[in-house]
Amino acid sequence: MTYISNKKKLLEEINFNQIGVSFKGSGSYVPDQILTNQKISQKVDTSDEWIKSRTGISERRISNLGDNVTEMGYKAALTAIEMANWDIETVDLILLATSTPHDLFGSAPSIQAKLGANNAVAFDLTAACSGFLFALITASQFLKGGSFKRVIVIGADQLSSFVDWNDRRSCILFGDGAGALAIEATNEYDNFIGFDMSTDGKRGSFLNLPSKNNKEKIIDNIDFSSGGFSPIQMNGQEVYKFAVREVPLILDKLFRKTKYSSEDVNWLVLHQANQRILDSVGDKLKIPKEKILSNLEKFGNTSAATIPLMMDEAIRNNRIRQNDIIATSGFGAGLSWGAALIKWG
Ligand code: ACO
Repeated sequence: MTYISNKKKLLEEINFNQIGVSFKGSGSYVPDQILTNQKISQKVDTSDEWIKSRTGISERRISNLGDNVTEMGYKAALTAIEMANWDIETVDLILLATSTPHDLFGSAPSIQAKLGANNAVAFDLTAACSGFLFALITASQFLKGGSFKRVIVIGADQLSSFVDWNDRRSCILFGDGAGALAIEATNEYDNFIGFDMSTDGKRGSFLNLPSKNNKEKIIDNIDFSSGGFSPIQMNGQEVYKFAVREVPLILDKLFRKTKYSSEDVNWLVLHQANQRILDSVGDKLKIPKEKILSNLEKFGNTSAATIPLMMDEAIRNNRIRQNDIIATSGFGAGLSWGAALIKWG
């Protein structure tokens, strides 16, 4: 079947008044290189004990030269497509959440090319550690609006390239990786139950990856600002306070909006920033520890990748099962934060 008739058939099957979202597959990828807390303490004045007790992190993955966001995102997307059992020609949209693209003009089209997704449109979306959640929400709206039938949402980041490896207050937190979900439109049910999202640029200075803006000359009297970025700058305490205040509030608002409660939740999948943040949010929402998924210990904060990386692990080891209710929230630079309530399957 040609693409045009294939797509026409897929779209004909849909009653546009009742389009819902269905979750079909997940995938992830992390680089092989492991940087343990002990190894970091050879570089900066810190210890495994300090990092573990303040963050919950034991080790993180660091990209080698070949493991850029395009490569990692491609590998995560491929495994999600395999789980969904999709013909690659039927993918309509590839949405890549990243703050560290391999190409500043966008890395999603390179992933499209590597996948051979010839009928898809692909673009990047940047919202730091909220990126995956914002991309998932964006994708759901395209699906519910009837524009696309099959979407791959990827979160991938390589913050190791932008960390100041001499700054012990921030370099201990971050790692590299990618995760992806395969989602599609359906008339049978809607497993994207609800969402909320927010930004506050007034507090943006708490966490930045700023451009350098070095003044240089093109010719006399014509200056330009040369490219490049300064390493990550972070006020850890303010980011911490922001997260433990806003994340419970937005999840609570979402529960009220959707008429669900925290008791209905099988799994809380938060952006993996710090175990103490996860515990505090769980306490405030009265969600027991057994329901709060965490893989921070192994991967640290992989920025836009943490949520799908965590979901993929839990789906593959049979913790997240068909029809489980998942409350998820991303938060980070911007400042930005958001939440979504979904049912797996
Ligand atoms: N090893 C040893 N000592 C350290 C280290 C370290 N790696 N880092 C800081 N310290 C010291 C400080 O110098 C300070 O010492 P002092 O009291 O003598 O001045 C002491 O430890 C306490 O420092 P705090 O900054 O108060 O430590 P805190 O308990 O707040 O933990 C942390 C710091 C882990 C960064 C925490 O604030 C945090 O997790 N904040 C959230 C950060 C975050 O999640 N950022 C990413 C957001 S997502 C995104 O968009 C990318």
